[in-house]
Order: sequence, then structure tokens, then C-alpha cells
Amino acid sequence: MHYPWWYVPLLTSPMLIAIIAVLHVVVAHYAVGGGLFLAVEVRHAYRTHNRPYLAYLKQHAWFFILLTVVYGAITGVGIWWTIGLASPLATRTLIHIFVFGWAMEYVTFIVEIVAAFIFYYYWGRPDPKTHQTMGWIYAASAWLSLVLITGITGFMLNPGAWLQNRNFWVGLLNPQFVPQVLVRTGGAILLASLYVYLHAAFKLKDPTLRDLIAKRAARPALLGSILILIGGLGWYAFLPESARAALMASSVLTVLTALIFATTAIVFVMLYLGPYRNPGWLSPGFAILFFILGVGAFSTGEFIREAVRKPYIVYNVVMGNQLLTEQIPEVRKNGYLESGTWTKAFVASQYPQVMDGTKIVREKLRQLPEPDQVRLGHLIFQYHCNNCHSTTAGYSAVGHLMRGWTPDIIRSAVPYLGDVNIFMPPWLGTPEETEMLVKYLASIALPRPGGMR
Ligand code: HEC
Repeated sequence: MHYPWWYVPLLTSPMLIAIIAVLHVVVAHYAVGGGLFLAVEVRHAYRTHNRPYLAYLKQHAWFFILLTVVYGAITGVGIWWTIGLASPLATRTLIHIFVFGWAMEYVTFIVEIVAAFIFYYYWGRPDPKTHQTMGWIYAASAWLSLVLITGITGFMLNPGAWLQNRNFWVGLLNPQFVPQVLVRTGGAILLASLYVYLHAAFKLKDPTLRDLIAKRAARPALLGSILILIGGLGWYAFLPESARAALMASSVLTVLTALIFATTAIVFVMLYLGPYRNPGWLSPGFAILFFILGVGAFSTGEFIREAVRKPYIVYNVVMGNQLLTEQIPEVRKNGYLESGTWTKAFVASQYPQVMDGTKIVREKLRQLPEPDQVRLGHLIFQYHCNNCHSTTAGYSAVGHLMRGWTPDIIRSAVPYLGDVNIFMPPWLGTPEETEMLVKYLASIALPRPGGMR
């Protein structure tokens, strides 16, 4: 039943997802917010007959399309690759539940790309009205694709009533849907202004035009930070119990959450005092600082959103050890190695002496020589723990987490892992498998520094 695991040295595979996802979302949100910005500003430029502004907007649209379509599309595909490899079960589950949602998302994506190209390549050729309509079609479809994907990521954190009523719309319009759409829409328009500042600060020499842009882009950005704060409170209010407990139990997450609210508030004040009240302040240095703050807050937000979901990948549906919650009783009964297609095939090929026909005989596992038990313990670790821990070095390395733990401490902790730390799914192995995992863990646990007891 298990899928093969994907070993990413040091990082662990989910952290690789995190890196690629952050690289993607900082541009994907600009694709939404920047579209809205261009639609609104092109309209303004036509209305005020501001030709230099229109010329600048064309220049910005080129930068925008290059970045969002090329880089955005490549990193977006990168996310599908990494999630498919790192979390095949969760990816499969989400595809099954939301097949209609993905289909809608692809439609909005195609409309988005076509509208973007027409908007840019036919710049100035259609009448201003048609040109503006193209801008709005782009903006609307980009935002809709944000809304659809947010429904799915919100679902992962809190599927709400879907757990009782497995209806597509109940799943999509989950309790996290509105809060996360608010945060992401706010984030998109805030981030877009930061990109505009960055681009304008370097590319635009005309001070009057620069002041105009500084002031005009400050307004959506201010609105964006307010939406982030409101949505953020909603996100907190609609967290499922396990996520709230996780947030409270981890000092790092508490500090990061406080930091993100503080950064958003600081950006708000800086926007107000800076570009909004004193447009002349917009300089390359100011724009870079803003941009770094914005991207930093964004990445932190994504990290928290992902981290509090533990021990689940999809709340109460898929656990962080690549099993469905509903499989717990069955896996416990039959044994962990026996329940997995690949684990069982491995045991059968390497240790035919423990097999009875196609079944693993538990008692015979105990008779295996010590090194072989450690080896099977390592195998169990790779399936049950590899998704969140590296071994002796790297992200959340178990060797370090168990520094100074004696085999006895490890033996008493493993059967209660989910209670030792609520970030972890419950341990699903049989007593024989516990013993093998304990042997492996004891072989990698590092000594306590300084040797104090
Ligand atoms: C869904 C993710 C997840 C899975 C799967 C997981 N863990 Fe953990 N584990 C965590 C997190 C998060 C922590 C807390 C780490 C920290 O404080 O930095 C943790 C902590 C630990 C600790 C230290 C406990 C403490 O409180 O001092 C040990 C030991 C450990 N895990 C072992 C394991 C083993 C063995 C497995 C596999 C059987 C496993 N974990 C599976 C997420 C997970």
C-alpha cells in the first residue's frame, strides 16, 4: 500500500517542496496582483491621457509576463513534480477529491496566458476599451485560479464538514477558504506593488512619473496589508484543534507567527509614511528593503501554514507518514512491513526465511541476526519517519533529537511517539517492528554533549 519513499539527503523531501513552493508563490502571487495592477493602471492612464505612464506600463507588462509566464510556469510544474515524488498518497488523494477543481484551474490558466499575450502583444492596436477588457480578463482569470488553488490548500489544513459529507463543494468551500483567500489576495496585491517599486526604482528616470507610481501603487499595497491581517485572524480562528495545539506547542512557530503579524504592520506603516505620503522616498535601496521584507514575510507565512498541519498532510485524511488515517487499525493489525507493497517485497527478497508463503511471520523477525534487524529498522524509519526527519545530519535529524537517549528511553518512547510530541502520527508497528526500529535508532542516537547526566 505504501508508495516508494523518496530520500533527499539532509533536507528531507517535504523541505524540498517547501523551497520550490516558496520560489513559486512569490512570483505566482505577483501574477495575480500584478494583473490587477496593470488592469487598473492602464485604465487610469487611458483616462488621464497620460502617454508616458502608458509607455511605462507597457515596459512593466513585458517584465511581468516574462517573469510570471516563464518562471511561474516552470516552478509551478516543479511543485507538481516534487509533491508527486515526496507525497504520492496525498497528491493522489487531492487529485481524486478535486478533479473538477483542477479542471477549472487549468481552464483559468489557459485563459490567463492567452489574455496576457493579447494584452501585451497587441498593445495600442485595439481600441483602448478592448485593450482594457483584455487586462481585466487576465486579472479575473488569474485571481480565479488563486481562489481555486486556495480552496484546495485550505482543505488540507481544515476540510471541515467534508469529513462527514464528501461533496466537492463542501470540500472546496472549507472553513479555511475565505480566510486564506483574503490573505492570498491581500498578499498578491501587496507583493505586486513591491515588484512595481523594484522595477520602477531601477527602470524609471522621470521623477514625476516615479512619484505618481509610488503613490498609486501604495494604495493597493495598504489595502493588501489590511486584508492579510484580517485574513490572518480568520486563519487562526478556523484552525482545527491539532493545528492550534501545534502552534502553541512550538516556540519557533509562536515566534514566527508574531513576527509575521509584526512585519505586516511595519510594512503598512512604512508604506504609509513612505510612498503614500512622501512619494519622493522611492529609491532603489528603499525598494529592495521593501521587497526583502515582503518576500520574507511571505515565505514565513507559507512555512507556518505548512508546519501547523502536522501530523497530517491532509487533516484527518492523510498522515505525515504516507498513510491514510483510516488505515491505522488495519496496519496495526497486520504489521507495518506486511502492509506495504514495497516493504513486504523487500523483506521477501532479502529474508525469505521469515516468509510463510506470501506472509511475513512476525516471530521469525526476532530470530534475524542483529545487523539485519538494524537494517530492517532503517527500512521502517525510511517509510514511517523519513517524511519529517533526516537521520544523523540535516533537517530535524533524529540522531540529534535523541542525543543521550539510551535504548531503554527509546524503547519506551517509540510506541507513544504521537504522545511524546503531537507533531507526530501515532506509531503503527508491531512489537517486533518496534524492537527493530529501536535497534536502528539506538545505533544512530548521538551521545549527550558534555557527558552530563
Ligand atoms: C509528520 C511528521 C513527523 C513524522 C512522520 C515523525 N516525526 Fe518525529 N517529530 C516531528 C516533529 C515536528 C518533532 C519536533 C521536532 C523539533 O522539536 O524540532 C518530532 C520529534 C521527534 C523526536 C524528539 C521527541 C522530543 O520531544 O524530544 C523523536 C525521537 C522523533 N521525532 C522520532 C520519530 C520517529 C522514530 C519517527 C518515525 C517512527 C518520527 N519521529 C516520525 C515530526 C514527525
